[in-house]
Amino acid sequence: MKKKNILVTGAAGFIGFHFCKKILSVKNYKVFGIDNLNNYYSVKLKKDRLNILKKNINFTFSKIDISEMNSLKKFFLNKNIDIIFNFAAQAGVRYSLINPESYIRSNLKGFLNILELAKIKKARLIYASSSSIYGDQKKFPISERSNGIQKNLYASTKALNEQLANLYYKNFDIPVMGLRLFTVYGEWGRPDMLYLKYLNAIKKGKVIDLYNFGKHTRDFTYIKDVIEILYKILLIKKKKYFQNNIFNICSGRPTNLLSFIKCLEKNYGKKCKIKKVAKQKIEILKTHGSNTKIKKLVKKTKFINYNEGLLNTVKWFKSYQS
Ligand SMILES: NC(=O)c1ccc[n+]([C@@H]2O[C@H](COP(=O)([O-])OP(=O)(O)OC[C@H]3O[C@@H](n4cnc5c(N)ncnc54)[C@H](O)[C@@H]3O)[C@@H](O)[C@H]2O)c1
Repeated sequence: MKKKNILVTGAAGFIGFHFCKKILSVKNYKVFGIDNLNNYYSVKLKKDRLNILKKNINFTFSKIDISEMNSLKKFFLNKNIDIIFNFAAQAGVRYSLINPESYIRSNLKGFLNILELAKIKKARLIYASSSSIYGDQKKFPISERSNGIQKNLYASTKALNEQLANLYYKNFDIPVMGLRLFTVYGEWGRPDMLYLKYLNAIKKGKVIDLYNFGKHTRDFTYIKDVIEILYKILLIKKKKYFQNNIFNICSGRPTNLLSFIKCLEKNYGKKCKIKKVAKQKIEILKTHGSNTKIKKLVKKTKFINYNEGLLNTVKWFKSYQS
């Protein structure tokens, strides 16, 4: 059987890495991973992830910035691509106050280039959107039909991605699917995310700020569940699901931050020094998604609880030499 060519953008990132690792283990795919290896967080961590992927002969990495169309075109000139998974983006909410330009460059210009590439290559595109597009909601669980008002630039760029994808589907018949991911955590995670900031603070005995006095609630979703869903999406044959269909990717189990932190401390065996501070304007108070639609699509019934997910995460954290 001829191997399918899959392009994964943001392959050195948290989700991109795990997804590449999974599909490389199946052996039916040739994976082209691209990433600009920017220094938003540890470049060593990104390179360590890539070193694991590079051991597989079906993986090719190229350092490319998706905001540079000429580099994309040049690299893919003589290559066929069947499916694109777009994970490359400037992530993070607070950083959008410091460096708004990087969100415009990667999340808008870069995303437009990926849509163009999908058009040129006649490839199917699955892209990462975000739960942050919902803003603050009153009704829970949040269904894909809920309208939201975005509270920060990151969220606005993701909302615009969905609109652009819709235009490309309607005007050029590009098969696309958008995934609204809710707070993904796990091994090899992003150091700018709360759980790893806490683990690093525990390790170094540092004091860490806990925003909104810890009253936030998040629909934490373990990376293994996310990868299982992504893999099942890769296997879907029917075109009808790629009409810019949008899916929430979440465990559907909202958890208060303080409980999440307590579980981290229990698994680490040490407490974290916390300074409770006020909420920032750009932050969402509560996320709790409905996962009915995605569960039906991929026939998934169970999600891993955060006790188990955090135990695995802490084990990895203790063994990783950062
Ligand atoms: N992790 C989560 O909880 C979460 C939640 C919602 C949405 N998402 C979305 O999922 C995707 C993956 O998130 P992640 O947590 O793996 O983030 P990540 O930062 O670990 O991965 C993104 C990768 O993209 C690369 N990148 C950024 N800009 C690029 C560019 N212009 N060209 C090429 N590469 C570029 C980065 O170097 C990084 O390795 C992102 O689109 C993010 O917005 C993640």
